[in-house]
Amino acid sequence: MYKVRINADFNVARVLEIYSAEKWWKSSKNAKEVLSKAFKGSYAYACLYYDNRLVGAGRVSSDGISDAYIHEVAVSKAHRGRGGGKKIVKALVRHMKSKGVDWIVLIAQPGTTGFWEDMGFSSMKGHAPMRYKQKARDNRSKRKI
Ligand SMILES: CC(C)(COP(=O)(O)OP(=O)(O)OC[C@H]1O[C@@H](n2cnc3c(N)ncnc32)[C@H](O)[C@@H]1OP(=O)(O)O)[C@@H](O)C(=O)NCCC(=O)NCCS
Repeated sequence: MYKVRINADFNVARVLEIYSAEKWWKSSKNAKEVLSKAFKGSYAYACLYYDNRLVGAGRVSSDGISDAYIHEVAVSKAHRGRGGGKKIVKALVRHMKSKGVDWIVLIAQPGTTGFWEDMGFSSMKGHAPMRYKQKARDNRSKRKI
C-alpha cells in the first residue's frame, strides 16, 4: 500500500538515492545537506512510502497565495507504474488548493507529458520554459563589442 506524507520528516539519503538515479543531484560531500535545505526551503514536499520505505518524492515552490511550481517528482524504478507518481502529484496539488493556490505549473521532463496530462496539466500555448545562463549573456555582450 502506497502512502504519501506532506512536509513530514524524511530520510534525505534515500531521496538523494532516488534523485541521483535521475541525474538531478550528484552525490557529493554536502549533497545531503543541500538537498535537505532544498526540501525544507520548499513550500511543500511530499514523500511516497511503500511499507514505510521511502520510494518517491516531489516538491513544490510557492508564495502560498498565488502561484506554485512543482519540481522533482520521482519514484524509484522498482516502484514505477503502480500509481505512486500520481499519488505524489495529487497530494501536492491538493495541498496547494487547500491554501487557495490554483495556478500550478511545472516543466515536464521529456517524454513525461502523458503522465502530467492524465492529471489535468496541459501545455501553455505560446509559453516556453526558460532558464537563465550566465554564459549566454556573456557571449551576447561580447558580440556587441
Ligand atoms: C514520471 C514518474 C514520476 C511517474 O511515476 P509512476 O509512479 O511510474 O507513475 P504512476 O504509476 O502514478 O503513473 C500514472 C500514469 O501515468 C502514466 N505514466 C507514467 N509515466 C509516464 C511517462 N513517462 N509518460 C507517459 N505516461 C506515463 C502511467 O502509464 C499511468 O497511467 P494510468 O494511470 O493510465 O495507468 C516516474 O516515471 C519517474 O520517476 N520518472 C523519472 C523522473 C521524471 O521524469 N519525473 C518527472 C519530472 S517532470
